[in-house]
Amino acid sequence: MKIFLDTADLGQIRRAADAGLIDGVTTNPSLVAKVAENRDVTDMYREICKAVDGPVSLEVVAVDRDTMIAEGRKLAAIHENAVVKVPLTEDGLKACRALVDDGHMVNVTLCFSVSQALLAAKAGATFVSPFVGRIDDISGEGMQLIHHIRQVYDNYGYDTEILAASIRHPMHVVEAMLIGADCCTIPPAVLWQLSRHPLTDQGLDAFLKDWNAAGTAI
Ligand code: E4P
Repeated sequence: MKIFLDTADLGQIRRAADAGLIDGVTTNPSLVAKVAENRDVTDMYREICKAVDGPVSLEVVAVDRDTMIAEGRKLAAIHENAVVKVPLTEDGLKACRALVDDGHMVNVTLCFSVSQALLAAKAGATFVSPFVGRIDDISGEGMQLIHHIRQVYDNYGYDTEILAASIRHPMHVVEAMLIGADCCTIPPAVLWQLSRHPLTDQGLDAFLKDWNAAGTAI
């Protein structure tokens, strides 16, 4: 499963990319707004694309098809790894089709149902982003959506990649892997949580205590 980092924070992206742990990045307007500080957004996107060797989702902010296509073309021109992110609306699906026909990668975001995911595949999306955590937030079962989309895409041979999004904790990542999501986009804090286990810490403490007590050196 590909791991994407869900952030526009360049420091976090470099930290994870330098460790060789991520396959790409996803951003959205809210994540960009958190770190923008009046900086030129195109420059920021270029830096992010340079920092990671893999797809970087950059989202349009228009809501009508034609302006989405125009924005999408500008975003795609920033870097060869840029993926244009469009919302799962009628206009977003039409923009997806046009941008894919232009030869660009497209991530259709804000997916909350299997029927929406079906249309994203029909529109030729490279990725579809079902928002697991936001469904859980309203007492739904976010992972069930990933499971159902996997089943439908496999039944009919759609090659749109399922990008599990709105990830809140490590178990979301584990469940997405078990279901067979193609990718998971993970906030930096959750990425580092994946590496931790109390028995690892206890075990390491004990090893070092024993080693030091023996007074040995490498
Ligand atoms: C996906 O690409 C989005 O950036 C993201 O996963 C949204 O998650 P949130 O519900 O934590 O805002």
